[in-house]
Amino acid sequence: MSLIMASPLPLFLLMIQGVSSADWGVSYSHSHICALKGSTVTISCTFTYPTGHQIKKVYWTKTTIKGKDEDFPDLSEDPEYSQRLQYLGDKQQNCNIRLSHVTQKDEHEYYFRFTTDIQDKKWTGQPGVTLAVTDLQVECPERVTEGDSVRLTCKSSCTLTDRATFIWYRNSQPLTERRDTNNQLLLQSVRREDAGRYNCALHGHTYISPSVYLDVMYPPGNPVISISPSGEIVEGDSVTLNCSSDSNPPAEISWFKGGTSVGSGRIYSISKISSDHNGEYKCKSINENGEKYAAVTLNVMYPPHSVVVSISPSGEIVEGDSVTLICSSDSNPPAEISWFKGGTFVGSGRIYSISNISSDHSGKYKCKSINEHGGKYSDAVTFSIMYPPRNVSVSFSAEIVEGDSMTLVCSSDSNPPAEISWFKENQSSAVGSGQSFSALQSGRFFCEAQNTYGSMKSAAQSVTGADFINTLVYLHSFHQSRELIMMSFLFQFIMMVIAV
Ligand SMILES: *[C@@H]1O[C@H](CO)[C@@H](O)[C@H](O)[C@H]1NC(C)=O
Ligand SMILES: *[C@@H]1O[C@H](CO)[C@@H](O)[C@H](O)[C@H]1NC(C)=O
Ligand SMILES: *[C@@H]1O[C@H](CO)[C@@H](O)[C@H](O)[C@H]1NC(C)=O
Repeated sequence: MSLIMASPLPLFLLMIQGVSSADWGVSYSHSHICALKGSTVTISCTFTYPTGHQIKKVYWTKTTIKGKDEDFPDLSEDPEYSQRLQYLGDKQQNCNIRLSHVTQKDEHEYYFRFTTDIQDKKWTGQPGVTLAVTDLQVECPERVTEGDSVRLTCKSSCTLTDRATFIWYRNSQPLTERRDTNNQLLLQSVRREDAGRYNCALHGHTYISPSVYLDVMYPPGNPVISISPSGEIVEGDSVTLNCSSDSNPPAEISWFKGGTSVGSGRIYSISKISSDHNGEYKCKSINENGEKYAAVTLNVMYPPHSVVVSISPSGEIVEGDSVTLICSSDSNPPAEISWFKGGTFVGSGRIYSISNISSDHSGKYKCKSINEHGGKYSDAVTFSIMYPPRNVSVSFSAEIVEGDSMTLVCSSDSNPPAEISWFKENQSSAVGSGQSFSALQSGRFFCEAQNTYGSMKSAAQSVTGADFINTLVYLHSFHQSRELIMMSFLFQFIMMVIAV
């Protein structure tokens, strides 16, 4: 784009020059020109001279030596300029010139110079035109926070002579929205998406300013926790929790379990996880702009741990009672329970009930707890069932000892063992106690067995004289002493007579 300098010097100046310099003069539209690096500059220029002169040579130079009026170098012959310089004027009065692709090196004062045929008259237009070349620099705050109002300025080192339109780029994309006053870009309420590389340029120019990065701070977003492995977590696994949350600057991450700090950093690892690690884990994401929390619950799967049988009621168990065995075990997921009595499967379910219990139910019980991660048996539990005496009966003792009377033995079945009392039929008070009883007379005897849970009488057993004789005959075969046998016989006989 070229800079067309529209207005020539005011007329009165020309008139003054005309008076003082006898119509010799050069007038430039601008004494100072500020041009954008890389652009094309056109300097408007007119010159005057007294009538009668013929112009021999017109050219531009950047060199003058005070007081000297010799031939200064013609810019069009300077290799630095020759390719970029174009004289647009003529040899009458127009001395416009165009310089393209200006750079900082072109910053000089430039003069138009002409010579005429009469006396080789030379004239230089002094002072000349000072050319300043500027680049563009984006000025913006280093750090802004989301929501702030931000103003970006496209700076030039001199005020551009050309009133051009500024354009803005973010990450090389032209911005169409929110253009502000001439060389400024206003971001009313800055968003995180506004962060990026900014450049500015002038409409119609290829020069683009260097990039400036706009950093937009924002508080952490809601953190996301990912768990690895992602599926089921089994006791013994190595588990990694990964807390990620978007923020600028990057957030500090810390981990909590039930209010207690357990670690810091984005990754929280648990090697050889156990059921003790179950629970809720929180990650906290914090930067200078805010903080956010997220939580996750770990559910560790494990085989049954402590398998224990408890018995209800807890005290003694009496025949006819209802008894409940409860198998408790710690496992995840809950286990399947099965029951065994002395190695034989007897039922399933956490509770095993026996109603109307009897001594047949005595034995060793245990439960087995099993889930997909393993199984375990409880210790065996034994319980004894209390019951009152039963099967109470009296019999003669097989063992007959010399000097003994008739000995009766009372047998019974009970738990705990029964106390035995002996009775003679039609007598109210007991005649003896203990397992065995010596009948010193004939009659009908029975025993009664008793424990805490009840009592039972046996059937009566008759003891007659014949029984005594049998006993004596039996004894005789073993003993030589006739006297002793006779004495015994007599004694027994007398006793019998008394009894009858
Ligand atoms: C944590 O999660 C982030 C986001 O999903 C991911 O980029 C990163 O690689 C993860 N780190 C590990 C160690 O898994
Ligand atoms: C309990 O069992 C006994 C024998 O085992 C039986 O005689 C009795 O009728 C039973 N009682 C009930 C209530 O089932
Ligand atoms: C003993 O009592 C029973 C019935 O209580 C009776 O039948 C029997 O005659 C009695 N015996 C004697 C010897 O009194």
